[in-house]
Amino acid sequence: GHYDHIFKILLIGDAGVGKSSILLRFTDDAFEEHLASTIGVDFKVKTVHMRGKTLKLTIWDTAGQERFRTLTSSYYRGCHGIILVFDVNDRPSFEHLRTWLDEFELYATSAAAAKLLVGNKVDLDAREVTVEEAQAFARQQATMYIETSAKTRSGILQAFDEIVQKVLDT
Ligand code: GTP
Ligand code: MG
Repeated sequence: GHYDHIFKILLIGDAGVGKSSILLRFTDDAFEEHLASTIGVDFKVKTVHMRGKTLKLTIWDTAGQERFRTLTSSYYRGCHGIILVFDVNDRPSFEHLRTWLDEFELYATSAAAAKLLVGNKVDLDAREVTVEEAQAFARQQATMYIETSAKTRSGILQAFDEIVQKVLDT
């Protein structure tokens, strides 16, 4: 097919926060209660239409678990946008975002990559991170904060729409 642009978008964040589930919901409109941990790197492709353009998104998903991670620098190479994911019910996953950003800054070849902060699993009733704290962190990173649930679909389309708009503006 013909595309106006091909964009490389990355999902990063701690193990278990729901990166693969967010991707599965976006590309296949599916959800699995017991999804296996990602080993190495996976990616899915989805075509979207925006501002009169046809965009091919290659969305990369890596293991949050250190022992399953490989080829880190090639993962980040040439990326246009990153979606930083944490679980709103898991405070450490929020506190580790700084480490994920440091890794991204170490390896990314394009410092101009667009960023988006996503707080996932809002369908659960065990919140440990407030919307205000997450928004404050997002502001520091000059990025937007969106809450999602891969389970209920809440915020998923909005999150990808936002990152693509931001890539188009970068
Ligand atoms: P790694 O691949 O190990 O880095 O984890 P991951 O970030 O890809 O997490 P994954 O998508 O595998 O999700 C972990 C678990 O959380 C799975 O059992 C999912 O079903 C569940 N999960 C993911 N998103 C949601 C959500 O929005 N709500 C609920 N209730 N569960 C979710
Ligand atoms: Mg995964």
